[in-house]
Amino acid sequence: MVKVAPSILSADFANLERDIKLVEKHGADYIHVDVMDGQFVPNVTFGPSMVAAIRPVTDLTLDVHLMMIDPERFIGDFADAGSDIITVHAESTPHIHRAMQMIKQAGVKAGIVINPGTPVSAIESVLELADLVLIMTVNPGFGGQKFITSCLDKVEQLVELRNKNDYAFEIEIDGGVDDQTAKLCVAAGADVLVAGSYVYNSDNVAERIAKVKAAAIN
Ligand code: DX5
Ligand code: ZN
Repeated sequence: MVKVAPSILSADFANLERDIKLVEKHGADYIHVDVMDGQFVPNVTFGPSMVAAIRPVTDLTLDVHLMMIDPERFIGDFADAGSDIITVHAESTPHIHRAMQMIKQAGVKAGIVINPGTPVSAIESVLELADLVLIMTVNPGFGGQKFITSCLDKVEQLVELRNKNDYAFEIEIDGGVDDQTAKLCVAAGADVLVAGSYVYNSDNVAERIAKVKAAAIN
């Protein structure tokens, strides 16, 4: 069964505890936390203190997606705050290998992510360090954007590389996931689907999560 990671970017920030517990109760696997610095992406969201604040609220894996320039500066802080997975953009630092090493040294699972414009070849040399590989299916910065189907070719390439080299990373997809695009993601080989607006912009969150999970069956 595919894992679902609701993005709290689309939650009610004034009621985050309620909104995190709601998705936990209805079958979410990870809580996806979108960190934006206003430089790497044209939006600003949370810092490490937000991760520390939500850590006691849930037992779910905190899947922290850093959309920031030079993330090495904050890896220690996000690890100390209680992140379970820290994912860094290949485009965000000239020292992506070092950033991945730093995450692992902090005792946290290391994720690598690429934007729609970046090929898989850009991250081949760090795949051996990766616990998670995230493929963006929108240009990062905002929830509610349209799914870019052509990015799924990269998921197929990653499945091949994982088989060939006996890597163990999970493949996660982020951006524009709904009940329909989820089927395409699962067919391409995704293990984890981030869903923000589709899950939270609904008065039936339970049904929305169930529909994303059902993509693995239908
Ligand atoms: C985009 C973020 C996503 C976003 C997804 O910059 O990385 O995690 O919350 O939102 P939806 O699912 O609405 O596309
Ligand atoms: Zn994200």
